[in-house]
Amino acid sequence: MRWLRSTLLAAATWSVASAQLPEQEDPDFTPTPAEFAVDTLSHAPGCGIGDFWRLAKDLSSGTEIRYPNSTEFDQAVERWSNVGAPSVTISVAPATEQDVVKLVRIANNCNIPFLAYNGRHGATTTLGQMTWGISIDLKKLSGVTIASNGQSATVLGGTNSKVVIDHLWANGKQTVTGTCECVSYMGPALGGGHGWLQGHHGLIADQWISAKIVTADGQLRTINSNSDLWWAVKGAGHNFGIVTSVTIKVYPVVKTNWAITTLMYTGDKVEALYQAANDHLLQNGSQPVEIINWSYWMNIPPIDPTGPVIEFYIIQEGVTAVDTAYTAPFIALGPISVTHNTGDYKAVSAWVGISLDGPPCQKTGAANPRFPLYLPQYNPSAMADVYAAFKEGTNSSSPFANSLFMFEGYSMQGVKAVNAASAAFAFRQDNLLTAALVQYTPGSAALDAQAKAFGNQLRNILHAGSGRTQKHTYVNYAYGDESKQELYGHESWRTSRLLQLKNKYDVSRRFNFYNPAA
Ligand SMILES: Cc1cc2nc3c(=O)[nH]c(=O)nc-3n(C[C@H](O)[C@H](O)[C@H](O)COP(=O)(O)OP(=O)(O)OC[C@H]3O[C@@H](n4cnc5c(N)ncnc54)[C@H](O)[C@@H]3O)c2cc1C
Ligand SMILES: *[C@@H]1O[C@H](CO)[C@@H](O)[C@H](O)[C@H]1NC(C)=O
Ligand SMILES: *[C@@H]1O[C@H](CO)[C@@H](O)[C@H](O)[C@H]1NC(C)=O
Ligand SMILES: *[C@@H]1O[C@H](CO)[C@@H](O)[C@H](O)[C@H]1NC(C)=O
Ligand SMILES: *[C@@H]1O[C@H](CO)[C@@H](O)[C@H](O)[C@H]1NC(C)=O
Repeated sequence: MRWLRSTLLAAATWSVASAQLPEQEDPDFTPTPAEFAVDTLSHAPGCGIGDFWRLAKDLSSGTEIRYPNSTEFDQAVERWSNVGAPSVTISVAPATEQDVVKLVRIANNCNIPFLAYNGRHGATTTLGQMTWGISIDLKKLSGVTIASNGQSATVLGGTNSKVVIDHLWANGKQTVTGTCECVSYMGPALGGGHGWLQGHHGLIADQWISAKIVTADGQLRTINSNSDLWWAVKGAGHNFGIVTSVTIKVYPVVKTNWAITTLMYTGDKVEALYQAANDHLLQNGSQPVEIINWSYWMNIPPIDPTGPVIEFYIIQEGVTAVDTAYTAPFIALGPISVTHNTGDYKAVSAWVGISLDGPPCQKTGAANPRFPLYLPQYNPSAMADVYAAFKEGTNSSSPFANSLFMFEGYSMQGVKAVNAASAAFAFRQDNLLTAALVQYTPGSAALDAQAKAFGNQLRNILHAGSGRTQKHTYVNYAYGDESKQELYGHESWRTSRLLQLKNKYDVSRRFNFYNPAA
């Protein structure tokens, strides 16, 4: 590593207006973190010394730069899951869409890797391939504008889900967004995107009307259903560019009331419970559109020290109490507790623990890998088997004792109503999204390997119980060891279409850190 005192000193106080070219070397110089970042970027393989900084001068003055070993940098790059996480040399928050264009061009000129940073809840371990380079932090591109006809809204690329939900709600509107308040709007959407309102309207990406995207060649493109990229961004979007804004359908709020019944069970009820869920709720994808059922398994020793409890949620739209026709078969099974709650749409996420102050929204330093599997329905005996394995692997002396198993039974009508060939999202026929979340404090590579083996053991039990030969997994929950077909669909036309589009729009594979599609 060469240290260049004059560049480094200039860079330590670097501002958009003052980037300078390096002139001399000083091998005895000990760099500060800012200087380290400058030097690393200045020696990027494709660039002459100082080219990065000469080019960066062009960014608008609102652009924010963060250097390593500062609190601001640490906060800007902190992630929800810390296994297989990306590393960057510098964090740059562009102030405008044009700054995103410029940054991608600069990075390309200098052959510097870059990665969009948004809600930072992306957890796939493929992100760990990003070992240096630029975080393009989208936080300054935040905002929602509702069109004057009230039928669409434009959402900027770095807008948080809750900002979208609240802004629309304040104007009597809603749309499909992710359920979790702290995740970005865009992150879930790029992988298709599940949300409370999908039973009515389809996936998050199904709401898109047009989008502006900076592709790997540094072009800002406006795309819509006439563009070949349109298919790809709806399910494999992370692979094709940085979306700076999207115009989406919005809908009037028709039903303001929502209600939930939360039933808690001990593990001995697992088989009967999921049999009842199949019979009374899922109904092979014809679960009533106003009903959503979720469940979580987790250890709560004061309630049951002998094994994980099952928290089963039945959520209903348009009522102030969940219809007893839905709850009665579940109450009959003998839960430890039954609680009811009622409120408006904005309250639902908090009921299932994923509001802004909920545990999954916090960035605590934990590793949070998930092992997703889509299924058509529950196999009650496989549920009993996987419960036993989860119980054993999360016992009180296990490093994984705080793990969570998630079973998400959204209503599906709106998702199935959309032509499956219209988007890269491949798994519309599946009614259930399951995922073990193996939570632990990062320690060693051996512990990571143990967590991976445990998560896959759980996933494989459910897969075996499905009787399927091929796994279907959700790209946005993926661990990172899934095959391209498991993430993007087993039909060969999907695989070849993704490959053809990657070769057209991202031939040098700049956008390959998040579950690469081709
Ligand atoms: C607590 C929790 C709740 C969740 N709830 C849901 C849910 O309800 N529905 C659902 O479908 N999924 C949900 N997810 C999964 C979620 O879709 C992914 O974790 C997603 O990657 C999060 O996006 P992010 O912006 O927060 O993360 P980031 O890590 O910032 O981004 C994820 C990936 O997307 C890329 N990216 C982000 N923004 C852009 C952009 N504008 N243009 C191009 N690329 C971009 C990033 O480069 C990165 O590769 C949830 C996850 C968690 C942890
Ligand atoms: C940042 O700090 C760590 C220790 O806290 C140190 O090992 C590392 O070299 C520092 N990085 C830079 C670029 O100074
Ligand atoms: C719960 O969701 C699953 C998966 O969608 C479904 O099979 C089941 O019928 C649902 N149960 C209830 C009570 O809604
Ligand atoms: C479930 O629905 C699918 C179509 O979505 C259908 O092909 C299948 O036969 C149904 N299964 C049962 C058991 O009704
Ligand atoms: C407890 O969990 C650990 C780690 O998952 C596992 O190795 C061990 O066998 C478990 N012990 C029991 C008694 O189940």
